[in-house]
Amino acid sequence: MKIHLCDSREEATRSAAALVYQQVAAKPCSVLGWATGGTMDALYSELVLLQQQRPLYWRELVSFNLDEYVGLSTDHPKSYRFYMRHRVFIPLGINEDCTHLLRGDVSDLDDACMAYERAIAEAGGIDFQLLGIGENGHIGFNEPGSSMDSRTRFTRLTLQTIEANQRFFAPGEFQPHTALTMGIKTILEARQIVMLALGAKKSAAVAAMVEGPLSELCPASALQMHPATTLVLDPDAAQSLTQQNNHRRAHPIKDLKA
Ligand code: F6R
Repeated sequence: MKIHLCDSREEATRSAAALVYQQVAAKPCSVLGWATGGTMDALYSELVLLQQQRPLYWRELVSFNLDEYVGLSTDHPKSYRFYMRHRVFIPLGINEDCTHLLRGDVSDLDDACMAYERAIAEAGGIDFQLLGIGENGHIGFNEPGSSMDSRTRFTRLTLQTIEANQRFFAPGEFQPHTALTMGIKTILEARQIVMLALGAKKSAAVAAMVEGPLSELCPASALQMHPATTLVLDPDAAQSLTQQNNHRRAHPIKDLKA
C-alpha cells in the first residue's frame, strides 16, 4: 500500500482528484469504479473544477458505482444514482449509457447483483477504483464481518453506519437500512485502488486498516493484500498511525494546479 500523507484536507482532496484525472487522461476508455459519501463531495467538486480548467474527454469512460441503497427509486434524490448524475456524470459530460449503478429498487436483488458482476467482467474488469472508508472500517457497504471472498450482494447496514449517514437525511425522512454493494473480492480485483480518508473520525479505522491485522472485523484491512493501492490521507485521518514519518512525502502526487 502506498500511503500519501498530505498537509491539509484540501491537499488530500486535490491529490486524490488528480489521480482520477490522470487515469482518465492516460486512458480515456478506462473502467472506473466510483464511490459516494461526504468525502467524495469535495473530490468531485475538484474534478469538475479541473475539467473546467483542463478539459478531458469523458465520453469513452465506462463506470461502476460501489453501492446503492435498497428501496430508493433511481430518481430518488437520496439515491446514489441521483447523486452521481447531478454531481459527476452531467458536469463531467460522461456518457450515462456507459455508467452502471446497482438497482436497489428491483424485485430480484440477487439477480441484479449477479448481473452486475457479469457486467464488470464483460467490461474487462475495473482499472481504477475510488474508495472512502467508514468509521467502522467498511469499504463500499462491506460492514465488519464481511467475508474477504464476498462478491456483489445484498447487505444490512450496521447501526454505526446508519447513524453516520443520518446527516444525509432530513428528520423523519425514510433512511434505508439495507443496500447492495460490490463485495470485498470484487473490489480487490480492481487493477488500481485509490482511497481518500479525511478527518479525525476516520483515524481509528485508518490505523486498523494499515497497521492492524488482516481481519474481517476491519474490511478495509483487505487492501493490505492488494498490489496497487494508494491511500491519500489528511493529517487528522493519519493521526493514529504510528509510522507517519515513513509515509510523509514518500509517494508524491503531482498537483495539477501547481
Ligand atoms: C459509499 C461508500 C462508503 C463511504 C464511507 C465513507 O459509496 O462506499 O464506503 O465511502 O461510508 O463515507 P463518508 O465519506 O460520508 O464518511
